[in-house]
Amino acid sequence: MLKETINGFTYGGDYNPEQWEKTYWEDDMRLMKKAQVNLVSIGIFSWARLQSKEGVYDFTWLDEILDLCHENGIFVDLATATASVPPWAYKDHPDIFPVDKQGNRLWYGSRQTYCPNSPSYHNLTKELVTTIVNRYKDHPALVMWHINNEYTCHVRECFCDTCAAEFRVWLKERYGTLDRLNGSWGTSFWSQWYHNWEDVMPPRQTTTQHNPGQVLDYQRFMSDSVLNCFMIEKKIIREMSPDIPITTNFMLDWKPLDYVKWAKEIDVISWDSYPNPATGVHPAKNAIDHDLMRGLADGKPFILMEQSPSQVNWRDINTVKYPGLNRLYSLQSIGHGSEGVMYFQWRQSRRGAEKFHSACITHTGDENSRVYKEVVEIGEELKAHTDISGSEVKNQVAIMYDYDNWWAVEYEPGPSCAVKYRDMILDYYTACYDANIGVDFVFQDSDISQYELVIAPLSYMVKPSMAESVKRFVASGGVFITSFFSGIVDEEDAVFENGYPGPLADILGISIEEFNPLESHMFNGITDALQSSKVTMWTELIRLKGAQAYASFTEDYLEGEPAVTCYDYEKGQSWYVGTRPEPTYLRRFLEKVCYDHGIEPVLKTPLGVEVTKRVDGENTWLFILNFNRDEMSIDLCGLSGLELLSGEEVSQKISIRAVSPMIIKLS
Ligand code: GAL
Repeated sequence: MLKETINGFTYGGDYNPEQWEKTYWEDDMRLMKKAQVNLVSIGIFSWARLQSKEGVYDFTWLDEILDLCHENGIFVDLATATASVPPWAYKDHPDIFPVDKQGNRLWYGSRQTYCPNSPSYHNLTKELVTTIVNRYKDHPALVMWHINNEYTCHVRECFCDTCAAEFRVWLKERYGTLDRLNGSWGTSFWSQWYHNWEDVMPPRQTTTQHNPGQVLDYQRFMSDSVLNCFMIEKKIIREMSPDIPITTNFMLDWKPLDYVKWAKEIDVISWDSYPNPATGVHPAKNAIDHDLMRGLADGKPFILMEQSPSQVNWRDINTVKYPGLNRLYSLQSIGHGSEGVMYFQWRQSRRGAEKFHSACITHTGDENSRVYKEVVEIGEELKAHTDISGSEVKNQVAIMYDYDNWWAVEYEPGPSCAVKYRDMILDYYTACYDANIGVDFVFQDSDISQYELVIAPLSYMVKPSMAESVKRFVASGGVFITSFFSGIVDEEDAVFENGYPGPLADILGISIEEFNPLESHMFNGITDALQSSKVTMWTELIRLKGAQAYASFTEDYLEGEPAVTCYDYEKGQSWYVGTRPEPTYLRRFLEKVCYDHGIEPVLKTPLGVEVTKRVDGENTWLFILNFNRDEMSIDLCGLSGLELLSGEEVSQKISIRAVSPMIIKLS
């Protein structure tokens, strides 16, 4: 594995030497070494520079650059180069063009222009990958294969005729008969009943709402189709290069792909993080995906594969990462368990769509830029603290995440389009984050028995595996929290018989009589023994079936009715939050539940100061990151240790400078 080759954290980024004259290459190596770079991703968008027609390749530049990296002690994460198809390929293979919902063909001229089910794309990538792997599998610089790049980043779905035919194959495998398909999608409704397989179509542009079952299955099918592209490449690599780990880079807040299913096929989980650096963006919005990736990696190391050293080019307005922010985000990844920090990209392009995207070497081309100096500083710090590499992040609290649920809940004509899965996940994640309560991510089929508290907001779709594991978890002493619009449908998106919250009713001790979603100008209030809050988005009429009302609504026809409920079920406890409270309420509510069940924050700090913890058998490291633009003081509450970045012993009350990190190795 990677760890055996690279001792410590990986550091580096996307390197695109094919965009530069060779005269730059020696300088690249010198500046990489100065910044302690030990890994570069090469060739990601280089297909057109490697192959000029079928069977004709020119690997001269790639041979030379791999040798140069090796001579300079820099390892290579070598791309299979399949992320962007060269223009010559489309002439003889028009099936490669993706087609959008309206039936428009998407042309080349940008990147990622391919239909995931195109036989020609599959064949051309097989030939390319076989040639690349065969040529470089024993190269001494090679430590990882990088398949494709950010799958579905631009083309999330294709609706072409090839996809339509493959969709039918996929459906036949899932349902066997048309009767089963008709039953599952409920096609008696609106005269949609299918009598012939060939009449079944992708959910192309239509008159009004689609059949939700069809839309859900198309999302599942698309995720599987793209996974198939990955598997085609993986199979070739595995046969020819069995010992080199494989990665593909995931993305932030990414809905089109079922990463839980994908993660099972990937050796090294990696992801690309691009938080908006404009002042005021909550750092939890970036931290959440580190924790999600750690969950997807399931105990294996994960890597931050891309981040920008400063600004990006693809927002409307692209502010810089102000001084110190790159360092904070880099160490945030490590604090959440990452084993590497990588950038997009090494040298800033002079031409092309990304010429105003920041890079480690800026347009000035020298080593005097603020950005490069920060890159060097971070490289040196990671190198100095390699002993942290390999340690783990362990938490008592987990959030449950599910892609089928995400897809299903966001394609429901009614009750409210304002309800978004990630927003709800982020509400609960941020409440824990602000309280410095560490969170892991688990999935509907995970073993959750090791946790004290599991939070599953907006669990609209409850699969049998979730229903069983949550029941077992609570019965044996676990604490479970869920929110409104949970326990509504089964895996086929059919509403549970006997009402809501379906299979969660037993453990929650409630039933839901009606939902009353609120328009954006509407609100209600809730109050409990400790606090009150304005609530938005959703209210509902909850009937108690054993549970106690913990908080009640304060307004309108729901005044005095339960809003938050608590139920002691066997040895455990279940909570239900039937509305969307303000962040402060939610944080205090979670702090109370955690306190009652002996779950401690890593440390209590002012808002904007993040604290996470990595541990190995003997040592504990606290990562304290001050995202505020002001100095903050922190009470270590009896803890003490060596602050590694300054080399000073710390104890009791300490000050942390604005936009600065500390790593304390506890004594
Ligand atoms: C990523 C992509 C990179 C580069 C970067 C710019 O999404 O993988 O190739 O385009 O964005 O921020």
